[in-house]
Amino acid sequence: MEAEGGELYHNRLVATLEALWGTGFLSPGGPDEVGRVVAGIDIGGRAVLDIGCGAGGIDVALVRNHGAGYVSGIDVEDTVLARAREVIGEAGLGDRIGCLKVAPGPLPFPPSCFDIVFSKDSIVHIPDKHALMREVFRVLRPGGWFLASDWLIGHDGDPSPEMAAYIAAEGLDFGMASPGRYRDAMAAAGFTDITITSRNDWYRAAAKSELERLKGPVGRAAADVVGQDFIDENIGIWERMIPVLDSGEHCPTHLRARKP
Ligand SMILES: C[S@@+](CC[C@H](N)C(=O)[O-])C[C@H]1O[C@@H](n2cnc3c(N)ncnc32)[C@H](O)[C@@H]1O
Repeated sequence: MEAEGGELYHNRLVATLEALWGTGFLSPGGPDEVGRVVAGIDIGGRAVLDIGCGAGGIDVALVRNHGAGYVSGIDVEDTVLARAREVIGEAGLGDRIGCLKVAPGPLPFPPSCFDIVFSKDSIVHIPDKHALMREVFRVLRPGGWFLASDWLIGHDGDPSPEMAAYIAAEGLDFGMASPGRYRDAMAAAGFTDITITSRNDWYRAAAKSELERLKGPVGRAAADVVGQDFIDENIGIWERMIPVLDSGEHCPTHLRARKP
């Protein structure tokens, strides 16, 4: 998949992903999966940073379903941020969620200013996991939690030919790392209570039904907006993704850690 207008998450991709995953969602699972990422941690009234907020559906769920006090969503692209502001406005939550464009690299916040750092399927775009986790640790208050979902690769060796073909088809600057590398990055930053939970079983089944929906009415309706050629390109991505989900090399994963 190619960037359009210099952006990876351009309008056609955002429209296709929202058709598949729901208003404001650029990753699978919707509000239920957000609920599983934060399960057991009370984020009511808390200051939350969302790294890679995308089109804002996550942030609406964090406030509406989990009572987050204020969510600061950050992202690197204008198209998703414009869509996030629409989604947040339509939800009437403009006073509880702010969206900020950032440059990749250090987080533009002072130390110890968030209770929770959340992220859903965005850190895959940030290649240096150790540098990121040091920044997450810095902006969290003592006792605060890092709660995330991300797309990992099962190992730190060269991707298999099937995985390389899938990553190339996505064309989304993926910088994937193994569970071991994430664990090391969190521990080296100073985090404790680290848990890493594979979501491969769930997503390998979900992805198969997503492919059927892309080939069926959902894809046909989206094609009216984005063009059948673009839907066909996405069908090709899903057809390359499913074998590497089945082999376990592509492993969506939940990550959790606490700043002591
Ligand atoms: C798969 S989308 C997920 C968006 C959202 N979290 C969701 O689940 O709907 C990944 C997002 O990460 C953003 N992103 C990429 N690199 C980033 C970086 N260095 N810092 C923050 N966000 C980034 C992309 O622009 C995109 O919006």
